Amino acid sequence: MTLSRRDLLTASALLLAGPAATLRAAARESSGREPLVLCWNENPYGPSPAARAAVSELIPSGCRYPHDAAIAALVAAIATHEGMGAEHIITGTGSGELLRALGLLYGRDGGEIVAAVPTYTELTSYASHRGAHLKFVPLDSQMRQDLTAMRAAVSSGTRAVYLCNPNNPTGTALTAAEIRAFVAGLPAGVVTIVDEAYMDFATAPGVGSVADLVKGGQAVVVLRTFSKIHGMAGLRCGYAIASPEVIQAVDGAVMTTPNIFAVHAGRASLGDRAFLADCRRRIVGSRTRITTALSALKLRYAEPQGNFVFFDTGMPLPRFTELMRAREILVGRHFAPFDSWCRITVGTEPEVAAFLAALRAVLPAPQSSA
Ligand SMILES: Cc1ncc(COP(=O)(O)O)c(C=O)c1O
Repeated sequence: MTLSRRDLLTASALLLAGPAATLRAAARESSGREPLVLCWNENPYGPSPAARAAVSELIPSGCRYPHDAAIAALVAAIATHEGMGAEHIITGTGSGELLRALGLLYGRDGGEIVAAVPTYTELTSYASHRGAHLKFVPLDSQMRQDLTAMRAAVSSGTRAVYLCNPNNPTGTALTAAEIRAFVAGLPAGVVTIVDEAYMDFATAPGVGSVADLVKGGQAVVVLRTFSKIHGMAGLRCGYAIASPEVIQAVDGAVMTTPNIFAVHAGRASLGDRAFLADCRRRIVGSRTRITTALSALKLRYAEPQGNFVFFDTGMPLPRFTELMRAREILVGRHFAPFDSWCRITVGTEPEVAAFLAALRAVLPAPQSSA
């Protein structure tokens, strides 16, 4: 059998689950059409009109570095938004860069980090390359991070606990009260890193940010991003909220500064409250549409609080992925140990309709009982 260049490109991209551009290009090449990208938890409505205007105006300034004053203005705007002083804030090239910096700071020289599995792995993967000792704790029966088991996993060598709230890939969330009690019960010297990338989509009672713990002097770092509710994933900007000491340490560990477009677009987007509210309304509405359809199809799902839904396809995930790809839809990757479960990003309303139509088409027909 000979494989064409197209076959090779498609297969290798899928196998490696490589960078977004590669996977998209492979799907486009195999069909000639743009695929529906529902695999990276992006917000398809962004960037906001104000952020777009900021980027357009700045194109001639693409030859310039972002001024310190512009970065300071972004930090000040974030500080106002979060209700704390600028000394508690640092921006990064996506919150991913800041997660890596924290993984380096707390994981180096065999530092122990406790995290759930599955969860977002940017911090733990990076920390493992820097010699960290990682302790992974399974989710509970509701696919939530199991705080009792995570507390039990904390040892005298533990430097940090990573909590992703809402959790990627399951979408389940802990309440702020649960996290507050967890932080209060940790030994002194153990920091809790709370990744709130998807918090703006949460609707469950009691689920909310714990950034105020930082102001109260607790050993907590909170991460937020412009990639999700702000719809700026491609512009790369995120921020951390922490004590001034931790902010200084992270400052020494980051690799670079956000680019000029991200700095100005982020500030503009923070002020575009109508856009942010509209994104939340649309995405939460479409999320409910997906879970309603899943219930009607008798497919199980984890309680979603982000802009994605984790559900049981009822078949091995590689088979489901292939069936959806044949319909030009890219879905989330495998997350062990959930071999038949798939993470699907909430796209635009027409994208959600297309996904649900494809889902109904690929499921086996119900068996008649006659
Ligand atoms: C839980 C979580 N945290 C952080 C990130 C990183 O976001 P960014 O680096 O784009 O800010 C992601 C990206 O998908 C995520 O899912």
